[in-house]
Amino acid sequence: MTDVLIHLEDAVLTFTLNREHKKNAFTQAMYTELADALRAAQDNPAVRVVIVQGHETFFSAGNDIADFLQAEGFGMDSPVIDFLQTLSSFKKPVIASVCGPAVGIGSSLLLHCDLVVAGDNAAFSLPFVNLGLCPEAASSLLLPQLMGYHRAAQALLLGEPFMAEAALEVGWVNQVVVPSEANVVAKAWALKLAAKPPSAVMQTKALMKAPQALAIKAVMEQEAMVFARMLKEGPAKEAFSAFLEHRKPDFSKHG
Ligand code: COA
Repeated sequence: MTDVLIHLEDAVLTFTLNREHKKNAFTQAMYTELADALRAAQDNPAVRVVIVQGHETFFSAGNDIADFLQAEGFGMDSPVIDFLQTLSSFKKPVIASVCGPAVGIGSSLLLHCDLVVAGDNAAFSLPFVNLGLCPEAASSLLLPQLMGYHRAAQALLLGEPFMAEAALEVGWVNQVVVPSEANVVAKAWALKLAAKPPSAVMQTKALMKAPQALAIKAVMEQEAMVFARMLKEGPAKEAFSAFLEHRKPDFSKHG
């Protein structure tokens, strides 16, 4: 069974994250598969809308922590950066359906989707600081813009999760529904969009995205540089080892 299920129906391309035993934690191979599928969808007139969805009780546990420990392949030419930049510059609409935990990149990728429906069990968290890391996916730019500096600091510095209703209030998601309805709502939105003239949909998205596109790319690159360095440093190594050893991290010896 593959870790990302890809299904095209009614002009809607659906990515279902499918790495259940690791709560849909992303591997390098998953980023590559998603980026390649997005590039193919961009050029395929049979695709008008993309949906990203997970499991009814978890969206994604973020980047695979065992992969992080390798600390190789997170530079500018890495699969994760390729995926994020491909998603961020994707011209057709992307809808996310999110239930349960959406951790790290599982949350930050939503900032590059056009519509987000959340199950009432959704919990969005960006615990980069807790892992000795810094934000990615231009979340250091987009989150303060979206919710204001202080609430962004609550998410990014304290690493506190935002539950579905709080995410709705700050505009991180469009609608909250019972988990069993999330994919249904996403598909209904997708079918509505797919019935509209594609050129009008894509032009409208392009106009909304254009003013920020360069800034997003630049911030993503800056974040990626810092992130790659921090991955190799003591606090991150301690946080990853602690997670894998099922213990609390001890940062008392780290500056
Ligand atoms: N990387 C690698 N493995 C992960 C993982 C990750 N990001 N998240 C979860 N897993 C693994 C667990 O180690 C566990 O594996 P095991 O059964 O071999 O021990 C399995 O997935 C199930 O996870 P578990 O923690 O038991 O599930 P849960 O339902 O209690 O909690 C989460 C789910 C997502 C809240 C929790 O797993 C979590 O906090 N994960 C880490 C998130 C994180 O920090 N990601 C990095 C962000 S930058």
